[in-house]
Amino acid sequence: MNWNKLIRQSHRWLSIVFTATVIANFVALAQAAGEMPPPWITYSPLPPLAFMLLTGLYLFALPYFAKRRSNVSQRPQVHRP
Ligand code: HEM
Repeated sequence: MNWNKLIRQSHRWLSIVFTATVIANFVALAQAAGEMPPPWITYSPLPPLAFMLLTGLYLFALPYFAKRRSNVSQRPQVHRP
């Protein structure tokens, strides 16, 4: 598996982890009527979100790096019959 694919897969699976932690927050809020849920539940979405930000910014930059590396516009034209 190459590097780009690994980062895309991490981003995809982290989105599931992140969603689960957000749902856990709603469940905890509903159960503890009038009370705050424990801080570890409240803050649990933050670590996956931080990794998603990093991997997401990398994914965003990928097409621009790919274009610069291949530099299609400056490639000599090949004429085939
Ligand atoms: C925190 C900042 C985030 C940034 C900067 C970001 C950025 C990106 C970028 C640039 C892509 C690639 C789009 C493409 O190639 O067309 C992507 C894909 C994706 N993002 Fe994010 N994202 C972020 C957070 C999230 C969150 C919070 C979720 C869901 C809970 C999420 C779910 C996904 C999914 C499922 C994909 C498709 C992955 C795949 O192609 O396999 N992202 N994101």
